[in-house]
Amino acid sequence: MTAAILPADDTNALERAAQILREGGLVAMPTETVYGLAADAANGRAVARIYEAKGRPRFNPLIAHVSGLDMARTCAEIGPLAGTCIAAFWPGPLTLVLPRRADGPVSDLASAGLDTIALRQPDHPGALGLLTTFVGPLVAPSANPSGGVSPTTAAHVAEGLGDKIDLILDGGPCRVGLESTVISLVGPKPALLRPGGIARKTIEAVIGPLARPAPDGPVASPGMLASHYAPRTPLRLNASSARPGEAFLGFGNTPRATLNLSRKGDLAEAAANLFAHLRTLDRTGAVRIAVAPIPVEGLGEAINDRLERAAAPRGLA
Ligand code: TXA
Ligand code: MG
Repeated sequence: MTAAILPADDTNALERAAQILREGGLVAMPTETVYGLAADAANGRAVARIYEAKGRPRFNPLIAHVSGLDMARTCAEIGPLAGTCIAAFWPGPLTLVLPRRADGPVSDLASAGLDTIALRQPDHPGALGLLTTFVGPLVAPSANPSGGVSPTTAAHVAEGLGDKIDLILDGGPCRVGLESTVISLVGPKPALLRPGGIARKTIEAVIGPLARPAPDGPVASPGMLASHYAPRTPLRLNASSARPGEAFLGFGNTPRATLNLSRKGDLAEAAANLFAHLRTLDRTGAVRIAVAPIPVEGLGEAINDRLERAAAPRGLA
């Protein structure tokens, strides 16, 4: 049976979703970044169902979504630097990796046995409505089968996971379109673990330079597997034109593009279109998807990160 899709701005739908979560079920919820697959963070069995539904490796920990600072304090130690980040960027696409409170509500399984926890307050009325109706942290990875393209509409969720979850809340297309930026505040210096919906520069303007995680250090962000976000069709990056049989994903004034991420060369618009366009081109029967170069500034860092992972050799993840 495939999951019902209900409007995320309807109080009855939110009540029903919260009830499903209390019973250990799985609900897909809209956020400003991508759709998340939510479960009660305190319920180990519900958390285990997420890993099962997505086919996600158990060593890859989940983000706990919170309704605000008070709920965050129950889950993690919030030091001065975390407080500054929260004041500047929450609600919004910034995930903070923090020292985990051993007496906090979040199940060990959600943080894959680490003594840290990733937290974020999403900036979407659907996700926030669900968090305040449920009253408790919700773990939520992107609502797609592991390794695939993240969903930015309720229809994308239904396509990938519709028969494995209990309900989908429809909040329309995601405004940002890329997952949150993940930074770690547990090491000696703040470190960028995953580029995402807030540009590095924007964060550095508030807290100073972000380090790269030590490649040989303890698994910094276990989810950063080489092959990820991948459509079925192979990708060829930094292409100036399409070869025979290829679909062409353009940016700016790319001639003869099959689809264009942003004709006016706007990186925020390109981010919002990226995953939906990859899905559309994946269905064209093209031998490959050629992608025009995307500048590596601002949100371009995260767009290029996702494209490189989508183009990486398969079978590593
Ligand atoms: O925008 C987003 O972040 C979306 C929406 C639904 O909120 N969620 C999302 O979750 O992208 P997911 O599970 O696909 O990615 C979570 C990332 C992974 O790279 C994971 O390894 C990392 O966060 N992560 C989670 N907990 C961590 C921890 N304790 N230490 C280091 N990295 C962590
Ligand atoms: Mg994901």
